[in-house]
Amino acid sequence: MLRRQAQRESAARTYARSLPIVPVRARGLTIEGADGRRYLDCLSGAGTLALGHNHPVVLEAIRKVLDSGAPLHVLDLATPVKDAFTTELFATLPAGLADDARIQFCGPAGTDAVEAALKLVRTATGRTGVVAFSGAYHGMTAGALDVSGGATDVRVARLPYPQDYRCPFGIGGERGAELAARWTETALDDPKSGVPAPAGMILEPVQGEGGVIPAPDGWLRRMREITAARSIPLIADEVQTGVGRTGTFWAVEHSGVVPDVMVLSKAIGGSLPLAVVVYRSELDAWEPGAHAGTFRGNQLAMAAGAATLAYVRENGLAARAGTLGTRMLGRLQGLAAAHPCIGDVRGRGLMIGVELVDPEAQGPDDLAPPPDPALATTVQRQCLDRGLIVELGGRHNAVVRLLPPLTLTDEQAAAVLDRFADALAAAERVHRARPSGPAR
Ligand SMILES: Cc1ncc(COP(=O)(O)O)c(C=O)c1O
Repeated sequence: MLRRQAQRESAARTYARSLPIVPVRARGLTIEGADGRRYLDCLSGAGTLALGHNHPVVLEAIRKVLDSGAPLHVLDLATPVKDAFTTELFATLPAGLADDARIQFCGPAGTDAVEAALKLVRTATGRTGVVAFSGAYHGMTAGALDVSGGATDVRVARLPYPQDYRCPFGIGGERGAELAARWTETALDDPKSGVPAPAGMILEPVQGEGGVIPAPDGWLRRMREITAARSIPLIADEVQTGVGRTGTFWAVEHSGVVPDVMVLSKAIGGSLPLAVVVYRSELDAWEPGAHAGTFRGNQLAMAAGAATLAYVRENGLAARAGTLGTRMLGRLQGLAAAHPCIGDVRGRGLMIGVELVDPEAQGPDDLAPPPDPALATTVQRQCLDRGLIVELGGRHNAVVRLLPPLTLTDEQAAAVLDRFADALAAAERVHRARPSGPAR
């Protein structure tokens, strides 16, 4: 199967290259491959599987719809399944938004909800430009790519996202975040900055693909103040951070910020494709059909999603992700103390990143050693050899990412970290044994 896949599938395939396994069964944290091996899955469908694979409440919700004779596809018509999903979702939203929110069901991917959010604020404000942040990832369709890091579009002004370890101002900490906020404020107020009044500002409360970089709460609050004072809608992209992942139900709750627009996908579909935008009703100025799409009403995804949202809420899984995540970060920081190739350990809740660096290549003026993507790839491979699936991310693909399900037990967390520690040590040995030293 792997050989046929390599022959038939596109050169653009991704995970299939670094994780050459054929999953045939899965439950909770565990995936079983066609080779009979079991893997602990800390990729979780890129953060989609809040309850892990095939959680009983998700399966039951799907079966209930299938057995009920309800239609599986009805475009955007009202159904009891949709009504229940929307009710459950609204019950979880930050109060300041839920009180007066509208929802638009989008095509099933996060990127489509990003497109919808951009269209929404452009229509509502009559402006076209958007402010986005360095290192952002918002998806792969044209508008979403524009607001992601690396885009060359001129309608998007890119401003610095604060980060401690590789602070763009070379100082990190609160002061670095404060300077990032000042830069944003200046760019918006300076008539000659080249940043015309934007239709909106889009940000991730924790950058995921950008390398697991949590925005400081104070910086997020500043972004809220700055946008509110200038009537710029603030769009929070919670595609990856939502549904308890970071220790609160929505990641913006850490800072108390209430955005004008929230982009939601991944976990809200309970492992099936679903994406929505929720926003303040005053922005609801677009015309019927302004953002259409055939697959906006996947009933099974709504049922699975409603069951997932309710389970996370009723079982306090967000708080659990917070405590367990803090404990895991602590253990990884201990590991970092013994391994100079770990440059940084960071994250929030069960969204964890370990940045691998080449400590010997650090120049005298460098704030942090250069990232070591080759070592990260070896660690990922060594993890897989030990039955642990991890993701790589970050600007240079040198951040090992852990996105386990929120149902992770203490024992499973220990097993994940044991395997990771073992894999890291093995990867270091492999690299040291190379004639040219650490690969660059
Ligand atoms: C923050 C964020 N926004 C948007 C997307 C795009 O979602 P999708 O891949 O479903 O289009 C992603 C995907 O990883 C994401 O992490």
